[in-house]
Amino acid sequence: MSVRVEVRDLGLAVGDRVILKGVELVVQPGEIVAVLGLSGSGKTSLLRCLAGLLRPTSGQIRIGEVDLAALSEAALNDQRRRMGMVFQYAALFDSLSVYENVIFGLRYHQRLPEAELRATAAARLAAVGLAGTEALLPAQLSGGMRKRVGLARALATQPQIVFYDEPTSGLDPVGAGLIDELIVRVRDETGVTSVIVSHDVASVLRHADRVAFLYDGYIRLCDTPARVRGSSDPVVQQFLEGRPDGPITSLSTIS
Ligand SMILES: Nc1ncnc2c1ncn2[C@@H]1O[C@H](COP(=O)(O)OP(=O)(O)OP(=O)(O)O)[C@@H](O)[C@H]1O
Ligand SMILES: [Mg+2]
Repeated sequence: MSVRVEVRDLGLAVGDRVILKGVELVVQPGEIVAVLGLSGSGKTSLLRCLAGLLRPTSGQIRIGEVDLAALSEAALNDQRRRMGMVFQYAALFDSLSVYENVIFGLRYHQRLPEAELRATAAARLAAVGLAGTEALLPAQLSGGMRKRVGLARALATQPQIVFYDEPTSGLDPVGAGLIDELIVRVRDETGVTSVIVSHDVASVLRHADRVAFLYDGYIRLCDTPARVRGSSDPVVQQFLEGRPDGPITSLSTIS
């Protein structure tokens, strides 16, 4: 159950601020593509456009055969059922139990008997290593557990594509490794297409099939981790090595 994504000449402006200028990206069915970029480079904005949560100013986003830009609000809402989103900072509802958080999308989109919801939540929580945590509140969870609840929630509706926003940020290396492993396992078991945005270079180079680099409103390169690592582009090299000196200046991130 997976779908192809094709982004063509995607532009996004908020007020007079241009965030994305002409993003081009193709993700094949079942592929894991990670988009790296500086803080503030527009990664979350790009992901929100892909997930149909933000309307781009120009360009096309094809999810399978559907061009999101051409859809009405109602039709867009319908398309969102095919997509799972793991939000930056997990974005759980603090007053709702783990169970209610996981089945939130299911309750919203489908009328299912409670027993079925229970069974789905139990299966998804088990899949992310959190069996039996249904009654806990988000405040009782560690950061890594919250991220995994977010993943269980995104998977509850059996999406064809999952969008991950900074899935490993704020986690220790072992916790981050666990999430990486989960993302790959979910893809291997369900064939789901996965798009990750992140600034965690080490994590992304380890497990993505291809890595893109978003810079100055464009995808500057998109290639296998090995080729990205070996790229001679000075901007890419500076980013990967985290050097303060080079073509990237703080000014270029806020222009
Ligand atoms: N709704 C909005 N209104 C105005 N500006 C916005 C809005 N959303 C995002 N921006 C601006 O667009 C730029 C890109 O933001 P975005 O959150 O997409 O970046 P990011 O790459 O995800 O950053 P981070 O790595 O810190 O999560 C930022 O400069 C931000 O201030
Ligand atoms: Mg972000």
